[in-house]
Parts: sequence; structure tokens; C-alpha cells
Amino acid sequence: MPVFRAPRDRAIAVFDSGVGGLTVLAALRRRMPREELVYLGDTARVPYGTRSPQVITRYAMNNARFLGSFDPKLLVVACNTVSAVALPALSAALSVPVLGVVEPGAAAAARVQRGHVGVIGTSGTVRSGAYQAALARLCPGARVSAAACPLFVPLAEEGWTEGDVPREAAHRYLDGLVAAGIDTLLLGCTHYPLLRGPIAAAAGPGVQLVDSADSTAEAAAALIRERGVARETEGAGSERLFVTDLAEGFGPLARAFLGRPAPEPVVVDIS
Ligand code: DGL
Repeated sequence: MPVFRAPRDRAIAVFDSGVGGLTVLAALRRRMPREELVYLGDTARVPYGTRSPQVITRYAMNNARFLGSFDPKLLVVACNTVSAVALPALSAALSVPVLGVVEPGAAAAARVQRGHVGVIGTSGTVRSGAYQAALARLCPGARVSAAACPLFVPLAEEGWTEGDVPREAAHRYLDGLVAAGIDTLLLGCTHYPLLRGPIAAAAGPGVQLVDSADSTAEAAAALIRERGVARETEGAGSERLFVTDLAEGFGPLARAFLGRPAPEPVVVDIS
């Protein structure tokens, strides 16, 4: 028989296409040290960023169904591609509140922009127009320019975050945005914070970088507080990590995204 747990004691569930969303998990933990966090990385099917909206939505539904078995009080979609493409479908299908990274990320960029926001993300994210639409709503006077940076995901996963290759890739992707006069650059992908060095160097000192992880964690904390379901128990919260495949080198990669050693992952079949 399922054990009844009061809403405030239930977990916050988080999913991403893979390990990249651990940047969001780290931000959630910093902001909410007492909460129980359950993370699913769909490492068997990553990347999502190059897939069609239909497939992204189907994968997102599978992930949400698996995490639903933990009866969470909140579902955080750490993946920018899923947040951009499938958030309305997820929200319509689930009874648990669903928070994506697009709205908080766009809100953070809207607060600091000075007239022209650049957005970078996967092809799926940029093609969806979700960040562009959110920014048009949140800062209607601002110009928005977007560029897909497909090589950044494999570079981050290779740990190739410094040196000539990422520097060259960053210039190829960003020079057009810089020439167009962006003053703010929204990192609309879980992996891009790892490439902050070359991205910042290519963007130049006049461009403010914004990433959605911290603003999403802030929005998640506000949401559970407003609903009266924030945990009140003393002591540190727990973390559980599920993956759909455990490839070689998972530990060091997870550590790079999380910024500390990751909990032991449990492999699950969610298909
Ligand atoms: N997690 C994805 C995102 O934030 C990047 C990796 C992928 O393409 O699946 O868009």
C-alpha cells in the first residue's frame, strides 16, 4: 500500500534529457537545502535538441510518468528543449504543478537587458520560438536575436570547455549576435554554463550572460512557498538520481555538471 506523505514532505521531481540538468539540480539544492529532490536523466535517449516536437513530447511524457510514481509536489523540467517544446502538453496532462526553465530564464534576461537580448540554445529550442515569445511578452520594447549552437552540447559532454576548439565554435555561433549589437545573452541550454568561459570571451565584456538555472530554482522555491508546501523539517534534504542508461564516464561528467560528486545513479527502464 502506498505510504501517505503530507504534501510538504513530498519530493520535488526534476528531469532532463541527460546529465545537463544537474546544473538545475545544483541550483535547486542551493536554494532549497531541506527538500527531497528526485532527478531523472534520460541518458539513453539524449540528445533531445535535434529531435522533432512530437518525439520530444513523447519522451517528456515518459519521463513525467516515471517521476509521477514518486507522487511529487512539483515537477521541474530542467531541459530547455522540453520546456520550449512540450510544457503546455505536460501541464495539460499532469495534475502536479510543472515548472520549466524558459519562463524564469526569460524573466531573468528581461530584468537586465538594455534593449537587445541574444538567445542561444539547441535547434529544437530556437526553432520553437518559446524564448523569443516569452521575451516579447516580458520586455516588449526589446529586440531579440536567437542562434542555435548545436556543437556546444557535445563539446560540454566531452569536457572540451577550454582551448581553441570551443573558442572557435563560440566565435562562429556568436559573432553574428555580437555584430547585431546584443547587450544580454541568455544561455538557453543546460550544457552552456560549462562553456561559460569561451562564450563570455566571444560575447565580449559589454554583454551580460544570463543562465536559467538560478532563476528557475528561485521560481521553484517561490512556488512551493506560495502553495504552503515548502519542507519545514530540520536537517539536510536528500537526493536520488535515476538514469535510463549508464554510459562509461558518467561519474566525472555528472560531477562536472553538478559541481560536486553526484549520488550513486540507479538505472531504470521507462519505455
Ligand atoms: N538538455 C538539453 C537542453 O537544455 C540539451 C541536451 C539535449 O539536446 O538533449 O536543451
